[in-house]
Amino acid sequence: MGYVLVTGATGGIGCELCELCAADGHDLVLVARNELQLAELAERLRGVYGVQAEVLPADLAQDGAADALFTATKDAGIVIDVLVNCAGFGDQGAFLDSSWERQERMVRLNVVALMRLSYLFGNDMRSRGCGRILNVASVAAFSAGPYMSTYFASKAFVLSHSLALGEELRGSGVTVTALCPGVTGTGFWNVAHMEANGLFSLMGMRSPRSVAKLGYKAMMSGRPLALHSAGTHAANVAARLAPRRFSTWLMGRVLAKR
Ligand SMILES: NC(=O)c1ccc[n+]([C@@H]2O[C@H](COP(=O)([O-])OP(=O)(O)OC[C@H]3O[C@@H](n4cnc5c(N)ncnc54)[C@H](OP(=O)(O)O)[C@@H]3O)[C@@H](O)[C@H]2O)c1
Repeated sequence: MGYVLVTGATGGIGCELCELCAADGHDLVLVARNELQLAELAERLRGVYGVQAEVLPADLAQDGAADALFTATKDAGIVIDVLVNCAGFGDQGAFLDSSWERQERMVRLNVVALMRLSYLFGNDMRSRGCGRILNVASVAAFSAGPYMSTYFASKAFVLSHSLALGEELRGSGVTVTALCPGVTGTGFWNVAHMEANGLFSLMGMRSPRSVAKLGYKAMMSGRPLALHSAGTHAANVAARLAPRRFSTWLMGRVLAKR
């Protein structure tokens, strides 16, 4: 078995996914920007589980970073059998009042880097006839999200692209899983300048461990979609049944800063 590459390895959900992979005996390549945190995590995983854990720090929102990461694994002779695209962030606020640079970075990370890594490692996996890709989408993928417009759109992209790519790869030995967490207790909320209140608190804050477990299991069994928690299932059904104008209005009420 080759390596599992996890982006966002230092974050709440990514770190738990690394832990689960290591506990199952998988060697890992850990990716995020914070080199020190990555090194500490790698040391712990090696020590506790006896697996190989390589550290490849990268800012995946930078031009060419995904390609450089792919090349670095090739140069090190590392074969990636499992790709976990978990790195991502959100930002709350009205689009026209937001920082353009931050919105652009979000699309580069949440969408472009995920696509590019899927393309590069996915081609390798297909030529070997085996592989797993896990893309972390969100409950935000189901509807438009006023005051978090770019984030919601980026996650809708991740969900749609993952399902379509998975279908294209049917029978190839490579599977693609989209994981849609609901409200999860991680650093995400701080980074997005948000509080998990209102409708979010009604959905219930979940632990990153439980989200990671669901995603890991779904990915390993090749399921296309993993919806975490009853609230996420309900949001999925509601978004399909409700008129778009209504769901957009409702999300705007939930996401507007008061
Ligand atoms: N928490 C929730 O409620 C929730 C719900 C639905 C979906 N999600 C999704 O779950 C995924 C994981 O988020 P989380 O909740 O675990 O949040 P988190 O704790 O903030 O983790 C984010 C991870 O992404 C990495 N990252 C951020 N910017 C990066 C960049 N430019 N290049 C490389 N790595 C970068 C961070 O590490 P560095 O800062 O060191 O780079 C960190 O490891 C995200 O895609 C998020 O959208 C979260």
